[in-house]
Amino acid sequence: MTVGIDAIALAVPHGYVDLSELAAARGVDPAKYTAGLDVHQMAVAAAHEDPVALAANAARRVFEVSGRSPDDIGLCVVGTETAVDHSKPIAAFVHRLAGLPAACRVYETKHACYGGTAGVLTAADWIASGSARGRSALVVCTDIARYAVGSAGEPTQGAGAVALLVTSSPRLVELELGSSGSYARDVHDFWRPLWSKEALVDGHYSVQCYLDALAGAYGEWRAATDDHELARRCYHVPYGKMARKAHRSLAALDGRAVEDADASFATEVDPSLVLPRQVGNIYTGSLYLALASLLHGQAGELEGRRIGLFSYGSGCTAEFFSARVASGAGAAAAAQAIAAPLEARGRLSIAEYEAIRGADDDLDRASVGAFQTPAGSVAYQGIDQDRRVYSVP
Ligand code: CAA
Repeated sequence: MTVGIDAIALAVPHGYVDLSELAAARGVDPAKYTAGLDVHQMAVAAAHEDPVALAANAARRVFEVSGRSPDDIGLCVVGTETAVDHSKPIAAFVHRLAGLPAACRVYETKHACYGGTAGVLTAADWIASGSARGRSALVVCTDIARYAVGSAGEPTQGAGAVALLVTSSPRLVELELGSSGSYARDVHDFWRPLWSKEALVDGHYSVQCYLDALAGAYGEWRAATDDHELARRCYHVPYGKMARKAHRSLAALDGRAVEDADASFATEVDPSLVLPRQVGNIYTGSLYLALASLLHGQAGELEGRRIGLFSYGSGCTAEFFSARVASGAGAAAAAQAIAAPLEARGRLSIAEYEAIRGADDDLDRASVGAFQTPAGSVAYQGIDQDRRVYSVP
């Protein structure tokens, strides 16, 4: 039996900031952002686009585009590091808003940006073990990446959700179960204390932690597999340049020269960065946005070929695993119109972006009606009697 990802759907905020404009506003050379960090646009979530609304919209879309029914879902996992409650998981909201059956295992996972991968790999094992009894899993990664306005992390923000249907006989990607390498170490590279909506980060140290984790996880993956040939590599993408650093690092681990890594980057990695460059860091969803980007651009030509995937969660844990692009994935990816949600966006001025950020701290106490909630998609409306309220189209 093959197990893997049958369908992918994205949900992104309607507004984004152009990073050359942000650089100008911060008095920074735009080339530092666009070339130095390889970031170009970052999605900015408005008040109604909270992590629940983004997750629900991605989940509803994944059923629409795949032709699959919510009735077939027996496991729903939401990976996030932007929880809206200490107890009630985003998955509980998604369960209702996506119309999942009552007979369903539903929970939220957290390990920084690794939370979504925890869901995907658990879902795959749940199916392969037989526990699923023929049912499928819905895994949703949803996050809003926030650093302090004016900080070094600011240009590496983003927001969005990725919904994945994990099934047997998947139409997009077959996971090579057991072919994975894990790594973990207790570090303070990036974290978000309970009192803060914004992440704290030891920026340059976090880059080193990512690369150390990549070395550990990749080494384990190599030991677990005989075939190390990979046509493409998708990395966790906090910003585009990090993927380039990762690719160089892997080349060194393979005993190849830096020039070799740079020469293969355009073929092996760049197709996975097309969508991340338009959205920014979406934490749990970043690896899967990279995968979505790759499949959107190249699913057809990659049918039958192997890809490597690297998931990194600060704090930290990581996993390197491999998969094979399914036969017929080109047609399936086209039918799922993976990149379509990015077409209906509008550019925000820096003043509009700063106004949104300035209101962030009040969002979880705002009364229903305190801000606008457009129709057409699931939207956060505010709080009524300490309960979060959502409008459903
Ligand atoms: N033109 C072209 N390039 C320029 C330039 C210019 N005018 N000025 C600087 N650069 C280059 C620098 O040479 C540097 O390139 P290299 O990394 O190749 O050396 C790059 O631009 C960045 O410059 P700095 O290192 O000076 O940037 P910084 O100190 O202001 O911040 C950062 C960079 C630490 C990544 C910061 O953006 C940050 O803290 N980001 C958030 C943390 C993060 O994303 N960490 C990644 C690993 S952790 C993880 O992956 C989990 C997660 O999702 C958060």
